Amino acid sequence: MFYFSIWFFLKLRKIIFASTNEGKYKEILSILRDSGIGIDFVRFKSTEIQSEILEDVALEKSKVAYEKIGQPLIVEDTGLFINSLNGFPGPYSSYVFQTIGNMGILDLLSNKKNRSALFRTVIAYNDGNVKMTFTGETKGVISDRITEGGWGYDPIFAPEGSSFTYGQQGITNKISVSHRTRALNRFAEWYCKNYPK
Ligand code: IMP
Repeated sequence: MFYFSIWFFLKLRKIIFASTNEGKYKEILSILRDSGIGIDFVRFKSTEIQSEILEDVALEKSKVAYEKIGQPLIVEDTGLFINSLNGFPGPYSSYVFQTIGNMGILDLLSNKKNRSALFRTVIAYNDGNVKMTFTGETKGVISDRITEGGWGYDPIFAPEGSSFTYGQQGITNKISVSHRTRALNRFAEWYCKNYPK
């Protein structure tokens, strides 16, 4: 498979981000901008395995993506874990977002005092031989209303230390503290050490 890529001309190492989510891709591009790693987006949808463990889901997704695309790539899996709901929706975050959405989450929390939550992202790298995962987490609280801005759960999640949700913060502020940034920084450090230019 051939992908026309600007990274080739810029002489950057290039890997693929395989996903259906362009919101994630925009963030990943900004986060990795200074790392010397070029990222191309390849639209890829896989059936997620049923597992409570994000690492297992991400690794399996990376395996299926590599079989299809055949180039070094990363995929990711993210979950929102709400403490007073015993970690729900966690690994089911995608299904829950599609079904009850942000309003449903606010309803579930309507009589709860504890609104603390955690976003966790697992990045899985796969080049056919090497398979690695990198995790990043950000603690925060679920807001009491759906704010403007962002995508997914961004309008109801305010990271610790801020009274603004990810949605209100906008991409630059979000990525300065986000779960995705923390996972990607770990990936970039490992990748640049192991695959020097
Ligand atoms: P998945 O990793 O695409 O399966 O994400 C699970 C769910 O969490 C989906 O509904 C996403 O929209 C949502 N999600 C993933 N990352 C973020 C984020 O950074 N902000 C808000 N929602 C997110």
